[in-house]
Amino acid sequence: MCGIVGYIGDAEAMPILLDGLRKLEYRGYDSAGIAVLSEGMVSVARRQGKLERLAGEMQANPLLGRVGIGHTCWATHGVPSDTNAHPHADCTGRIVVVHNGIIENYLSLRERLEVDGHVFTSETDTEVLAHLIESRFIGDLYDAVRQSLLEVVGSYAVVVLCRDIPDTLVAARLHSPLILGHGRGEQFVASDVPALLAYTRQVTYLQNGEIAVVTREGARVTRLDGTEIRREPATIAWDAAAAEKGGYKHFMLKEIHEQPAVIAETLRGRMGEDRAHVHLPGLKLSPDELRKITKVLVIACGTAYHAGFVGKYAFESLARVPVEIDVASELRYRTPIVDEHTLALVISQSGETADTLAAMRDAKEHGAHVLAVTNVVGSSVDRDADSILYTYAGPEIAVASTKAYTTQLMTLYQVALYLAEVRGTLDDDARARFIEALQRLPEQMATVLETEPLVKKLAEAFCGVHDTLYLGRGVNFPTALEGALKLKEISYIHAEGYAAGEMKHGPIALITPQCPTVAIAVPGGVYEKMLSNIKEVKARQGHVIAVGATDDPDLRKYADDIIPIPRTAELFTPVLAIVPLQLFSYYCADTLGLDIDQPRNLAKSVTVE
Ligand code: F6R
Repeated sequence: MCGIVGYIGDAEAMPILLDGLRKLEYRGYDSAGIAVLSEGMVSVARRQGKLERLAGEMQANPLLGRVGIGHTCWATHGVPSDTNAHPHADCTGRIVVVHNGIIENYLSLRERLEVDGHVFTSETDTEVLAHLIESRFIGDLYDAVRQSLLEVVGSYAVVVLCRDIPDTLVAARLHSPLILGHGRGEQFVASDVPALLAYTRQVTYLQNGEIAVVTREGARVTRLDGTEIRREPATIAWDAAAAEKGGYKHFMLKEIHEQPAVIAETLRGRMGEDRAHVHLPGLKLSPDELRKITKVLVIACGTAYHAGFVGKYAFESLARVPVEIDVASELRYRTPIVDEHTLALVISQSGETADTLAAMRDAKEHGAHVLAVTNVVGSSVDRDADSILYTYAGPEIAVASTKAYTTQLMTLYQVALYLAEVRGTLDDDARARFIEALQRLPEQMATVLETEPLVKKLAEAFCGVHDTLYLGRGVNFPTALEGALKLKEISYIHAEGYAAGEMKHGPIALITPQCPTVAIAVPGGVYEKMLSNIKEVKARQGHVIAVGATDDPDLRKYADDIIPIPRTAELFTPVLAIVPLQLFSYYCADTLGLDIDQPRNLAKSVTVE
């Protein structure tokens, strides 16, 4: 997830581009850059680090010109650095490109372009676009971009500038957002509305597969096949503050709603073209080495630990490999048995959690191969791991983790399915069914989000309680832990996450009409057991809010309230079941008027022990 902007008009482009990028920094801040065109020359400035670093330098040495493009980067290919920062140029420096998204077939395109003599200067996927457009350019920029994008597999929002066509920007999108802003004698392009609001409220939302030729006077939009599109501009009603959060009241709510899109992004690129196999180019162990793995050791903290806990069920049942899991702060102070046949699975959104890093180093010293699942390119985990799988959740700004968690789950399911194939523990039919189910999850999650009004009502009714119990079994025991953690951290209501079967060994004493129980009771191997646990709560006058299957008549007989989720493979239910629990904690905290995005005593990244 990156932010891109473009400007063409009669004002100086640089301040407008920098201002727009400032509004888009929430989309990534690993590096930033701009390119400005003036008097037949394209000048480019780009810097690793936050935008302010670039802006500071620009104050001393401004780039002058009335046409330009800019980018703020959330790195996905190549570590954050000056050379990997956008804009990227072709061999001649006359064509420059900013891009948000992932070009999945960039390696094959790059190989071909290199054979044709193109020289690359960065490790990014984006640079292939600049060279591809160069290879097609014979005077018509629109056509060169259009032809190039027809060859691209993946997702993109792009803006292209060419020295030889000084009065034009070309912009296009597929699965990444892009908006055209219309002013008087000037036009704007941006990834998101906040970057436009200071200049215009008249916008055109480009749709997937559309490309626009933008001049000072306006924009002509076509599909990639050249078909003309006529669309009336829309008028934006948002104020600037709301717009930064995409119209949502808090980043947490925005991030909850982003989940169907980001879990789809996590899948994209790792499913083969036949959609029957998982591909993990980031995993640097050969199939032979993977077959020799005797144990997976999960290293993580907090929400990431809960993701790893779900992973344990998936790894053990699909790939039949034993999994040991402990919170990193405990793991690092005991003496786990680790050797060269151990796969240390490090999970960290930020890639900077101190305990996780320390436990990871210990595991590495003892000979384990470290496979990291992280959201932040260039983080310490990214730098020190042997193999990397990114989660592609985009920047997570709210302190309470939501979309990072569900993208971690998706990544872990992919690893489990890959291991299962390599280790021969799952037959082809079963694997195909799991892969199909995995690919349905983004759509199903969008359905789960439709329960928001119901969940909000429940939260309003229950946010006054002091204690709650979250119960789950099997693969949804971690869901109970994660649901309870979400409630605690943002609403400050005490929540006990428990394995439902353990309830009789103590926590049952807590149950009163004033202590509601949230139970995850989805179809599967432990469903009947969960029903028994729910009956036990009811027998003690407890109130039960159950998360269960949409079409489950039995659950209705026992639970007081039901939040329905669609059916999927039992192993994958945590991805869907956690969403209403995130919404429940959000609306409890919101009803209580609390600081949701920055709850008391917490920090987004725990970089101290
Ligand atoms: C909870 C939360 C924390 C983090 C934990 C690990 O909502 O965000 O529990 O999950 O601090 O952080 P990372 O994943 O950055 O290592």
